[in-house]
Amino acid sequence: MDEGRSHEMMVPLGETALRSGLVTSRIGHSLYLFHEVDSTNEEAANLAARGAPEGTVVIAEAQRRGRGRMGRRWASPKGLGIYLSVILRPPISPNRTPVLSLLGALGVAEAIERTAGLEAALKWPNDLIVGGRKVGGLLGELCAEASRLQHVILGIGINVNQDEADFEAELRQTATSLKIESGRLVDRAAVIRSVCESLDHWYDRFLSSGVAAILDGVRRRCLTLGREVVARSGDQELRGLAVDLDDEGALMIRDGRGSLHRLYAGDVTLTG
Ligand code: BTN
Repeated sequence: MDEGRSHEMMVPLGETALRSGLVTSRIGHSLYLFHEVDSTNEEAANLAARGAPEGTVVIAEAQRRGRGRMGRRWASPKGLGIYLSVILRPPISPNRTPVLSLLGALGVAEAIERTAGLEAALKWPNDLIVGGRKVGGLLGELCAEASRLQHVILGIGINVNQDEADFEAELRQTATSLKIESGRLVDRAAVIRSVCESLDHWYDRFLSSGVAAILDGVRRRCLTLGREVVARSGDQELRGLAVDLDDEGALMIRDGRGSLHRLYAGDVTLTG
């Protein structure tokens, strides 16, 4: 951490500020706030295994081993970002759960717009993009026994008050923060409350009416659609035009021969 930082930036998160005015039907009713953990996804999974209720939120000021998608690391410097995981227990089969990460990304994009006044887009599957750079991401992890879903952990990382110098050199061209994009410090507690409210809204809607409205919301913000892409999943590579999302949230890609492929997981690079 840079010694010259203003004290304002170091305002720690407090439970009172996080709970004040939070109006949700389930997300955040139970809330754990830690100074430092290995990973909030891991803490949330442990709590879920011990019976923590749906909607439980786990937040940390820093993570020692923040986890990103595809086995990557998620840099989690103290007091600068949001590191948050939510426990969900939807009555669905494990193979329908990827849409929950899209739901989460949609909720976070809305929260960024409401609290930081920035336009937020999505890059399939779970990247949050502001000003053409990555400002956050989601990591959904599930626990199932004998193909019965026990719980899903929705892990959310948002770069909030980082300056360029706070990012590791190899991330500086591709990563950004709400502070860099808005030119001002952003209140992390306000963003967290807004994330909880958006997630609550979309999750209620998912339980009552299914995936259609969520997928429409994602389509409107998804900058992957209509673009030429290279998709990588395991050792497979696929080039083509990203044409749509199917009703499970898979990315539909039309290759050069006109065949349609569905990508359920993986990494996508926009090429045109
Ligand atoms: C990505 O690779 O884009 C997903 C990043 C997800 C990071 C968040 S931070 C809170 C939660 N705990 C983790 O260890 N990872 C997720």
